[in-house]
Amino acid sequence: MPHSQNSAEVVSEPGPDRARSLAVVVLAAGLGTRMRSATAKVLHCIGGQPLVSYVLEAARPMAPERVVVIVGHQAEAVRAACAPHGGGADLRFVMQAEQRGTGHAVQCAVPELEGFRGDVLILYGDVPALRADTLAAFVDGHRRSGATLSLLTARFRDPTGYGRIIRGPSGGIERIVEERDASPDERHISEINTGIYCVDARLLVSAVEALAADNAQGEYYLTDIVSVAHARGQRLWSRNVDDVVEVTGINTRTELADMEARIRRSIVEKWMAAGVTFEDPGTAYVGADVSIGEDTTIGPNIQLRGATVIGRGCRLDGSACLQDARLGDGVHIKFGVVITESEVGDHDEIGPFAHLRPGTSLAAHVRIGNFVETKKARLGPGTKANHLTYLGDVTIGEDTNVGAGTITCNYDGFRKYQTVIGDRVQIGSDTQLVAPVAVGSDAYVGAGTTVTQSVPPGTLVVSRVAQRHVEGWVARRRAREATAAKAGASAPPARSTPARAKVRTKTAAPKAKATKAGTKSGTRSSGRRSTTKRARPRR
Ligand code: UD1
Ligand code: CA
Repeated sequence: MPHSQNSAEVVSEPGPDRARSLAVVVLAAGLGTRMRSATAKVLHCIGGQPLVSYVLEAARPMAPERVVVIVGHQAEAVRAACAPHGGGADLRFVMQAEQRGTGHAVQCAVPELEGFRGDVLILYGDVPALRADTLAAFVDGHRRSGATLSLLTARFRDPTGYGRIIRGPSGGIERIVEERDASPDERHISEINTGIYCVDARLLVSAVEALAADNAQGEYYLTDIVSVAHARGQRLWSRNVDDVVEVTGINTRTELADMEARIRRSIVEKWMAAGVTFEDPGTAYVGADVSIGEDTTIGPNIQLRGATVIGRGCRLDGSACLQDARLGDGVHIKFGVVITESEVGDHDEIGPFAHLRPGTSLAAHVRIGNFVETKKARLGPGTKANHLTYLGDVTIGEDTNVGAGTITCNYDGFRKYQTVIGDRVQIGSDTQLVAPVAVGSDAYVGAGTTVTQSVPPGTLVVSRVAQRHVEGWVARRRAREATAAKAGASAPPARSTPARAKVRTKTAAPKAKATKAGTKSGTRSSGRRSTTKRARPRR
C-alpha cells in the first residue's frame, strides 16, 4: 500500500507538476561478481532477453524524454542490448570506466542531464520483474506529493544485504544506511531501499556533487542523496511496493533461474487467464512477445519463442519448438515439431517430427507429415506432403499430393533453384525434382521419376527403366552358392577373411553379371555398391 511521509500526504488532485518531463537513468555498469561470469550481469538473459531490456521496457510506457544508461563492463554489448528497447526516447550511453559506486555512476550521468528540467527516475539494470504500472504509479505519486525526492521501498522478511530506510521520530525518511555501515539495531529494520528513486533533476545534480566516499566500501553511495536532501529540508516521499519479487535484483545464477521460473510462470498464467489450456504449465516456455488464441491447448515441453503467434482452437501435442512462427486457427501441431519463421494456415496438420524452416508458408488445410522438411516453401490449400520429403525453394498449388520420399533438388553446390508445381498434381513416391523445373497442374509424376525437364499440365511423366524378369534366376543362383560353399569347406581359405572371401573369389564372374541384371531391372539401390559386395549371398 502506498504511504507517504515527511511533509507530504498523498495529494489526490493532479497538480500542475504532473506534466513534468521525465528522464530515466539506468545503472548498468557493474560486472556482477557473484554471477561468476565473463558476461556482464545485465546481459544475462531471462526468457531469452537480457536483464537490462526488462527495465527499459518497464519504463517505456511512461514515454521518457531521455534515457541515460550507465555502461562499464562490456559497454558495447550492453549498448547493443539496450538499443531495441529505447522506445521513442532519446537513448544515451555514459561510460563509467571504473565502478566507484552507485553515486559515482549517477555523477557520470550528470553531463547527459544538462539542461534537463523535470524528474529523473533512477533504475538498476538487474531488476527484471519490475512492472510498468508500478513505476508509473510511483512517478505519479511522486508528482502528486510535491516531493523533490521519492523512494520506492519494500519490506523484506530477510533484509540482509540491502540498504535500510532510517526514519525520524515522526516517521519521515532521514537517510539510508547500507548493511555494512549499519549498527546492529539498524540491521533489524525490515524496510529496505529498492534502489529506485524519482528525483527532481536539479536536486539530483547538486546532491550527487555533494557525495563523499566515507563509508565501509570507500564508494560514492547514491543512497546518501537522501540525507543530503533531508538536511536541505527537501520534501521526501516514499511508496512501498507490495510484491517484493518486483524489486528483487539478480545477483547470482540461482536468483537468475528462480526469476526465470517466476517470469515464465506469470506469462503462462496470463495466457491461462486468456483461455489457453496448458497440460503441463511447468514445462511450457512462452516468450514475452508471444500471443496465443482462445481455446488453444498447449501440451508438455512446448517452447514458443520470439514473435510467435498462435491462433484460436489450436492443439500442440508436445515437444515442439516454435520461433517467430504464425499459426492460424484450428492448427494441429503433433509431437516433435520445429517451426522457424514460418506461417501455418488454418486447420493445417503438422508432424509428428516435421521441420518447417524459414520462409515456409502454408495455406489452409495443408498436411505436413512425419520426417518432412520445408524451407522457402509455399504450399496451396489442401496440399499434402505426408512422409519423408524435402521441399525447398518451391511453390506448390492447391490439392496437390506430394508422395513419400520426394526431394526438390534445389542446390547444385553454387546456387539455389526454384521448383514450381501446379494444382491437383500427383507426385509419385521417390521423385526427385531437379530444379529449376516446373510441373504443370493436373500432371502425374510416376513413382521413382527424376524430373529434369518441366512437365506440361495434365501429363504423365515417368523416367523409370522398364522392368525385366529373369525367370529361374534365384534357383540357379542358390545352386551356385551351394557348390561354392562346399568347395570352400574342403579347400584352405583364399584370404584371411573367412567364408565371405571364399565365395567372392570363386564366384566373382557370375556375380558381376547378376548385378548388371539387377541394375537393368530398375533396382534403385545405390549404384555406389561395389560389384563384389553385391555378389555376396543375400537374404
Ligand atoms: C544498492 C543500494 C542499496 C539497495 C540495493 C538494492 C547503494 C549504495 N546501495 O546496493 O541501498 O538496497 O542496491 O538492490 O546504492 N552500478 C554501477 N556502477 C557502480 C556501482 C554499481 O553501474 O559504480 C550498478 C550495478 O551494475 C547494479 C546497480 O548499480 O546494476 C546496483 O549496484 P550494486 O553494487 O548491486 O548495489 P547494492 O550493493 O546491491
Ligand atoms: Ca544489487
